[in-house]
Amino acid sequence: MQPVRLDSLSTLNYRNLAPCTLRFPAGVTGVYGENGAGKTNLLEAAFLALTGLTDVTRLEQLVQQGEKEAYVRADLESAGALSIQEVGLGRGRRQLKVDGVRVRAGDLPRGSAVWIRPEDSELVFGAPAGRRAYLDSLLSRVSARYAQQLARYERTVSQRNAALRGGESWATQVWDDALVRLGPEIMLFRRRALTRLSELAAEANAGLGSRKVLTLELTESTTPETFAADLASRQAEELARGSTVTGPHRDDLLLTLGGFAATEYASRGEGRTIALALRRAELELLAERFGERPVLLVDDFSAELDPGRRAFLLDLAASVPQAIVTGTERAPGAAQTLRAHAGRFTPEGDAWELPDAEVPDELERRPEVLAERDA
Ligand SMILES: Nc1ncnc2c1ncn2[C@@H]1O[C@H](COP(=O)(O)OP(=O)(O)OP(=O)(O)O)[C@@H](O)[C@H]1O
Ligand SMILES: [Mg+2]
Repeated sequence: MQPVRLDSLSTLNYRNLAPCTLRFPAGVTGVYGENGAGKTNLLEAAFLALTGLTDVTRLEQLVQQGEKEAYVRADLESAGALSIQEVGLGRGRRQLKVDGVRVRAGDLPRGSAVWIRPEDSELVFGAPAGRRAYLDSLLSRVSARYAQQLARYERTVSQRNAALRGGESWATQVWDDALVRLGPEIMLFRRRALTRLSELAAEANAGLGSRKVLTLELTESTTPETFAADLASRQAEELARGSTVTGPHRDDLLLTLGGFAATEYASRGEGRTIALALRRAELELLAERFGERPVLLVDDFSAELDPGRRAFLLDLAASVPQAIVTGTERAPGAAQTLRAHAGRFTPEGDAWELPDAEVPDELERRPEVLAERDA
């Protein structure tokens, strides 16, 4: 299987990062430095440039304080071809280009990167919305059709909720029809995808040394067959609450460990193991779907105190064609090590670097992806 290869990453006005172009060899790049140096920001920028995805709610957060817009660019090799992906950000807008041509977010290669973070434990212990977001964002990457239908469905739910809040029971019929058209496709897609995802997660969990079996199931608030009837029967309740109380937007991803619901019963450590298993499963599912090994981004391996899981993270990074691993200490066995300090990254030992503080030529001018927006 071919890998996705991130050759270099450039950023301008991205959070606390100094303008830079960093090159990445195959294998593991370790990035170490003190708290607040910009390690997480670097991975976030790499993930954005590789996939077009970010989970911040306001894009302005990504723009350096005092600036109006930010820019990230990945030079990469995918499906045997070189390409340049650029993302410009500002004023609540994001603009993407591949090889100089404007594209929509869904048009970027969606399997290019997987990001593992300490906060992933929230997938296990947090609210259902977090688990739904994990599933939806993964399935949206696996299927453009799913992404499209889900976006339509979610838009319909918010329009219907607005009608319900206005007490307009007569107005909900048109939204009901749309929900009943879109909802079942979403439910059926989730069910199908979960069969494979669950196998992969169980394997990964066992590979992490857990003797308890991990399963993933959907807890559905309705079914494709009964959705229309369920909506109709709960209208009084919906009007009272001003929200749509049944449908795939209310489903949960039930994680069980050794037969017990992990959200309620797993220990902290077991939860972290499950979260890692979910990310590993994501990596494998994307690789199967796109026939390419994604770039693996591991944030803060040194936050992992359990030696078994720490070794798993480092082994996982070493087993994929390319990984970037951050921490407050050096990742052992890295092909390249960058020292992070105050938004700058200085290579140690090797000659991959641009001299510290030198702004690459192409960033000195305002990148085209930003300039064009004002035209
Ligand atoms: N839009 C922004 N403009 C300027 N600085 C920002 C912006 N957003 C975040 N920062 C700053 O970036 C700094 C680095 O954050 P980051 O999360 O990357 O650190 P880190 O190296 O991962 O630290 P830790 O080891 O604690 O996880 C923080 O001090 C934060 O305040
Ligand atoms: Mg961090």
